[in-house]
Amino acid sequence: MQKEKLAIEGGAKTKTSETEYVPKYGIEELMELVKLWELKPGSEEKVKSVLLEAWSGKSPHLFRYYHPDGDSMTRRFELECSKFFGVPYTLATNSCTSALIAALVAVGVGPGTEVIVPAHTFFASASAIVVAKAIPVIAEIDESHTIDPKDFERKITPQTKAVIVVHMKGLPCDMDTIMDIAKKHNLYVIEDVAQAAGGTYKGRKLGTIGNIGCFSLDHYKVIASGEGGIMTFKDEWLYTRAQSYHDTAACWRPNRYERERKPGELFAGENYRMSELQAAVACAQIKKLPGIVENLKKNYKKIVSKLELPKGVKLLKDNDPEGGCRYVLGLLWNDRELVVAARKALEAEGIWGSTHDTAVRDWHVYKYWEHILDKKTATNEGCPYTCPYYKGKIPDYSPEMCPNTLDYLGRSLFVGISPVYTDLECQQIADGINKVARILCERKEKNLPLLNV
Ligand SMILES: Cc1ncc(COP(=O)(O)O)c(C=O)c1O
Repeated sequence: MQKEKLAIEGGAKTKTSETEYVPKYGIEELMELVKLWELKPGSEEKVKSVLLEAWSGKSPHLFRYYHPDGDSMTRRFELECSKFFGVPYTLATNSCTSALIAALVAVGVGPGTEVIVPAHTFFASASAIVVAKAIPVIAEIDESHTIDPKDFERKITPQTKAVIVVHMKGLPCDMDTIMDIAKKHNLYVIEDVAQAAGGTYKGRKLGTIGNIGCFSLDHYKVIASGEGGIMTFKDEWLYTRAQSYHDTAACWRPNRYERERKPGELFAGENYRMSELQAAVACAQIKKLPGIVENLKKNYKKIVSKLELPKGVKLLKDNDPEGGCRYVLGLLWNDRELVVAARKALEAEGIWGSTHDTAVRDWHVYKYWEHILDKKTATNEGCPYTCPYYKGKIPDYSPEMCPNTLDYLGRSLFVGISPVYTDLECQQIADGINKVARILCERKEKNLPLLNV
């Protein structure tokens, strides 16, 4: 047998065949994305040729890290957000739920702590607290449909570490009072801005007033990328901790491989990274946000300026009539019978209105958060409710525990507002509300049947 010689020493190379590089993503993947537009048969070819040119046969890098030039869609989106929100640090995530969990972890919420959350919010705001191993304490909302600052203060205990305030339906919380209370009791304020991106409070962007802002980009939000989230920070340390947790502590600091610079910087985390596909859509969406909110506010103002509401119905309490992001106009009626009749009457006028029937299961109403009320957990040990580090008294959860919230929800009606309404539509919506309110409240006063149908 011929003696083998190392290639390095002049012998024959062992591996001589080279498989042709196959790009990871090609036109097939792109066409699947294009299908989202539900193209008409026949138009695919045209779209294909245009996109093929744009795609240039290259395989895009669909991961936020390791781009040759350090650039990425996700980073670009974060930088756009920092510019728009006027904050030094922004972190893109895969949802608002994960953003809330990362925010809680970042501020040090964990075993033994309590976090206050309003009784009216999507279940995710409360569930994030349990996932972060803390006890959720449910507080009433007031007539503004946002957390009642008085009840927030009443619910503070030595175990309270943070409060999640939620700008529900684009309506701003009473941030001045909330921040004063939080300062007095040394609490962190996490703003859940899932439903209020681009909204303001006394001229300041929602999500930039508390310690951390958490936004959602899921399909139903003001701007969207299918799924996705944004976190906004003023404080570098909170950003660093959230960044660590959101990326299984993958250590993306100035130097990825450096040891922790101070205790609390590196710890085990999750993977809440935004994908490059989401970020590409989000980059386009964030640029549209100022225009959307400006038009919403303009149309809201046009409608409100034409309202003549009788006794029996009023606008919701407003923590900043110039603020929020105004895709709904909220009306608070004197009683439940009026609100039910008003919704039906408005619908017949061609005006879409929604009410909270508190007898219907709705994940936005604490009464239906059985997972929390019954202290359900993923395993039988019952953490965090059984946590030995917890020295407080677990709240007496019950469907009746927040009667004010149920009352306000039961008497409210929301008329949807679109950023593309014409002056005529705004006028007609105001006319319709005025007509329905006048007739129904008059009948109510005279004890007549509200609707003759
Ligand atoms: C107030 C509020 N918080 C949190 C979330 C959770 O957002 P995501 O779907 O991005 O996790 C939502 C979603 O509907 C929400 O409305």
